[in-house]
This record gives sequence, structure tokens and C-alpha cells, in this order.
Amino acid sequence: DDEKTFYKEKIKRLLKQRDAVMVAHYYTDPEIQALAEETGGCVADSLEMARFGSQHSASTLLVAGVRFMGETAKILSPEKTVLMPTLHAECSLDLGCPEKEFSDFCDNHPDRTVVVYANTSAAVKARADWVVTSSIAVELIEHLDSLGEKIIWAPDRHLGNYVRKQTGADILCWQGACIVHDEFKTQALTRMKALYPEAAVLVHPESPQAIVDMADAVGSTSQLIQAAKSLPNSKLIVATDRGIFYKMQQACPDKELFAAPTAGEGASCRTCAHCPWMAMNGLKAIAEGLEQGGSQHEIQVEEALRVKSLIPLNRMLDFAA
Ligand code: 13P
Ligand code: SF4
Repeated sequence: DDEKTFYKEKIKRLLKQRDAVMVAHYYTDPEIQALAEETGGCVADSLEMARFGSQHSASTLLVAGVRFMGETAKILSPEKTVLMPTLHAECSLDLGCPEKEFSDFCDNHPDRTVVVYANTSAAVKARADWVVTSSIAVELIEHLDSLGEKIIWAPDRHLGNYVRKQTGADILCWQGACIVHDEFKTQALTRMKALYPEAAVLVHPESPQAIVDMADAVGSTSQLIQAAKSLPNSKLIVATDRGIFYKMQQACPDKELFAAPTAGEGASCRTCAHCPWMAMNGLKAIAEGLEQGGSQHEIQVEEALRVKSLIPLNRMLDFAA
């Protein structure tokens, strides 16, 4: 604990020295989320992180999340220094959608509007017409469908299927998945629901279809926290990264929260439903990022690529506004 206090104080000092602000995702560890809030930063879903970072006056952003979140911040704010605790915090959706293959896929379907999830590289965004996050996916596809557009959706197949089901749009889907949400198991969730029949089920749409079908509320991390507050149920079963429990419990202190079961359940539930890349955002790494910057920590996006990827990102922000 002495060590934690040491790093927290160090981070606070460095944030001031660097004119920096922390932008953290709901899946980072509770102490990281608490520190972001305490120091005037934000804890948010991926859309709100992008918005907060681009609107804040600080000259440096410390992004506690995964690399695509840092890249998005840099694309939107090239004049800012964007630091991350580690540049190795990946995302299985981003890794599963390499730019060359994706670009060829799009070239093979030139009649389709290309919509990519924020969880992609700058290069994949640059190939897209639209970027989207889970909080506005259904609305955006509804809008494009009403214009008669046919869609390429990438990379998350579960979110793509969910959006197709909700909107009836013509969607051709890249077959990526989130290694965290892909692990939620239907039979085990059915057993849990039988155990707590009064509980509502909250599901992030990166989860498999059968899990989404069991949900009382589906949405982005922010939307799930809202749903936890507004649903009348006193017990909630939550199918998303367990990092979200910190803010969700604050939002409804009187409710009982249960983690939806995953395949890894049992012997070592410490690893259940927790993104290994989000977990890289520890106090020590944040302090190092702020202190050292440089090639180990600073996000760089080549200017020609940045300008291209900014177009679909700005479309997303305008649409969401
Ligand atoms: P949100 O946009 O819901 O925060 O999701 C981001 C993410 O990486 C989920 O796994
Ligand atoms: Fe990517 Fe899944 Fe981790 Fe989110 S939880 S960053 S989608 S691997």
C-alpha cells in the first residue's frame, strides 16, 4: 500500500508538471478509475473518452485504456501529446482486422458503405466511411439503412449480428471477436438466472448472440451503467468486463451485482471477464508513461494517415452530437 500511495502521489505531481489529464476506460482497475476522477480527468466509454480528450484544454492526455483509444485521441488532437502506460495494450478486435486484408475485403465490395468499430487501427479507420462505437451503432446503421445503403461492418461479428437483427440492414460482417466477451456462456448464465430469477441481465453487445438474447438491457459500458440505475431490479447479472463493477456499484449502491459466468470460471476467477490489455494500465506504468514519454509511451500517427482517419471519426462525433 505504501508503494501504491507513492505512485499515486507521483502521478498527481507529474500530471500537474506536464499539464496533463487522465482519460480512463471503465475496464481499467478501480484504483485507476478513482485516480482519473480525483485528478479532474474522466472515466468513460470509448465514445465519451474520445470526446473528452478532444475537448479538454490540457496539452497532454494520459490515456488509460487500449491502444486504439490513444490513437483516436491523437487523431482528434494532433497538437496534444498523447501518452499511454504501455503501447502494448492491444485489443483482439484490432489485432484480428489487419489493414491489408480488410482493405482487400472492402475492394471486393465497392457498393457497400464501410463502417468500422472504434476498436481498430488508424489504418483501418482510414479505409472506412464511418467509425462507430457500441453506444451509437444501432442508430447509425438505422440511419444508413434508411438511406438505402448496404454495409460492410468490421470487426466484431457479434456486434454486427446484433445491429443487423435490430435494424434489418444489409450487413456484410468481418468475423472478429473480443476475447473477453466471447467467453460468456449461455448454459451457465441460464443456471445463474434460475438461481436469481428476480435479477435483470445486462449485456455488452460484443457478447455472443445467445447471451444478448437473454438480456434485459444491451448497450455500451456507459449505457449499461445507466440501465443498472434505472432498472427496478435489486439484483443485476452483468456480462461485460468486471472493471465496470466499480462505477456501476457507485451508481446503484443498494443493488447486488453478479458477474455473468465465463468459460474460465472456477479455479481462478481472477482472470474471468477481464481484458488482459486493460489490466496493463497499472499505477507504476502510468507514472512511467508520464515521466518518460518517448517511443515507449507516446502515440504517434503519421500525418497523411491521421488526416484520412479523422474524416470517419469526425462523422461519428457529429452524428453522436
Ligand atoms: P465501450 O464503447 O462500450 O466503452 O466499449 C469499448 C470496449 O472496448 C468494449 O470491450
Ligand atoms: Fe478489445 Fe475486448 Fe479488451 Fe474491449 S475488452 S479492449 S473489445 S479485447
